[in-house]
Amino acid sequence: MQHFANVLNKRKMSMRTETSDPVSVPLVTEPWGMWRTLKEVRQNILSIIPQIATSQPIVSGKMVKRWHMIMDPTALRQVLLERLEIYPKSEVTKNLLKPAIGESLFIAEGAHWRWQRRTAAPVFSQRNVMNLSPVMSAAAERCAQRISTHVPNSAINFFDEMITTTFDVIADVTFSGDESFDRNNIHTAIESYISEAGKVSLLDILALPSWVPRPNRLLTGWGLTETKEIADRVIEARKRYGAADPPDLLDLLLEGEDPDTKRKMKTAELRENLLTFIVAGHETTALSLSWALYLCAFDTEVQAKARSEAQSVLSDGRAATGDDVSQLPYIRHIIDEALRLYPPAGMVSRTAIAKDELCGRAIRPGDTVILPFYALHRNELLWDHPNSFYPERFSSSKSIERYAYLPFGDGPRICIGASFALQEAVIILATLLSRFEFIRVPGRDPKPVMILTLRPEGGVWLTTNQISKTTK
Ligand code: HEM
Repeated sequence: MQHFANVLNKRKMSMRTETSDPVSVPLVTEPWGMWRTLKEVRQNILSIIPQIATSQPIVSGKMVKRWHMIMDPTALRQVLLERLEIYPKSEVTKNLLKPAIGESLFIAEGAHWRWQRRTAAPVFSQRNVMNLSPVMSAAAERCAQRISTHVPNSAINFFDEMITTTFDVIADVTFSGDESFDRNNIHTAIESYISEAGKVSLLDILALPSWVPRPNRLLTGWGLTETKEIADRVIEARKRYGAADPPDLLDLLLEGEDPDTKRKMKTAELRENLLTFIVAGHETTALSLSWALYLCAFDTEVQAKARSEAQSVLSDGRAATGDDVSQLPYIRHIIDEALRLYPPAGMVSRTAIAKDELCGRAIRPGDTVILPFYALHRNELLWDHPNSFYPERFSSSKSIERYAYLPFGDGPRICIGASFALQEAVIILATLLSRFEFIRVPGRDPKPVMILTLRPEGGVWLTTNQISKTTK
């Protein structure tokens, strides 16, 4: 697997050492017993990944059930594309998300998934995503204004700040201009849902049936009922009063129909999919941005290079727009590299429902197939200096093997919101870098912990310096 060898600027890479790498998850180097594993997984799902997963194509084991972790691009292609039908999403994801998002696009399988995907696909077309970019620029501007009101040199938790900003975006493109939509209440309900539901147990990962009792699992409440009612009211009102101008995600979804059957979504289906976009879309994008800001503070050389790109495009001091994105390739590579080192979906899993073979190993029906994107993205068979922060590795698209880099998954079930998220992240990061310098707070580096998503435990605390207009 030499595809990466020609990519990197060897001079710069050779100057880097282990200690100059950004924060990472300490992976397991010796087998733990069942009880220790159960306990650790509740703190951090990634703690079930053994260190050898970063140097092997496949690692298998048995704990109650047979499981396999796949880090080989050819085998990943088989699971996500070629033999998709025998690897449905495992119960873990479904059990966690069903209370909020029902049988929506994210969870459904087979024909019920297919018609929803066909209906929603045009909503996320390049043209529609571009039309939504003014919302992203406005949120970036508001975020920059908030940061500039902070006392100079006082640290800000940028994870919280990015969550506020990306929720702003997703709220505006789902329920735009609706008076009855109480943004704060819905945000609080969804945030507490994500953090409660995300407390995955090992029993979930191994896809044991949902009747096996989970500790501390309470899948009701968290303001979800109220959130659903509000969403239904907004949808009914929009049906009566017509589309916003420009149309937002709800309008586009209301218009959408399955091109084959002409079926349209009913209110409950619209609500489940809108809540899916909110749940799947805002925290993941906030994470990419938070980790990217941490990485820029970590490597001041990269930050300076990115700032000069952002300032040359935004020379008049404005926020970045959708049209600017193609002029900001280095900022995009920083996002790509943040998604490699800290993929928000650090691991997803499937349950095999038929016999197969992956990397020469027999897969039996019922086996859990884990796709640990965190370990894939740091696998030394695939990446040079896998733990180093080096955005330039993305400067040639040919250098990255497709199934070696999967922050958005791949195949038919690839993230529907990928270009929306990337456009939003580039707009916000470029706007912020053009105006502020980001500085690490000694002793307060974030700790990567995966609870549903790969989060910075304790937040991303950075101080900022506003760049004076004269130096812009
Ligand atoms: C950086 C941000 C994001 C990341 C890293 C991300 C990651 C992912 C991944 C890995 C999957 C595939 C899961 C699997 O195969 O098990 C996925 C699916 C999905 N994502 Fe995203 N996502 C992001 C942003 C968004 C946004 C902005 C939206 C919508 C507004 C969205 C909506 C969805 C939906 C609906 C699916 C299910 C698609 C299907 O099964 O057909 N995501 N995402």
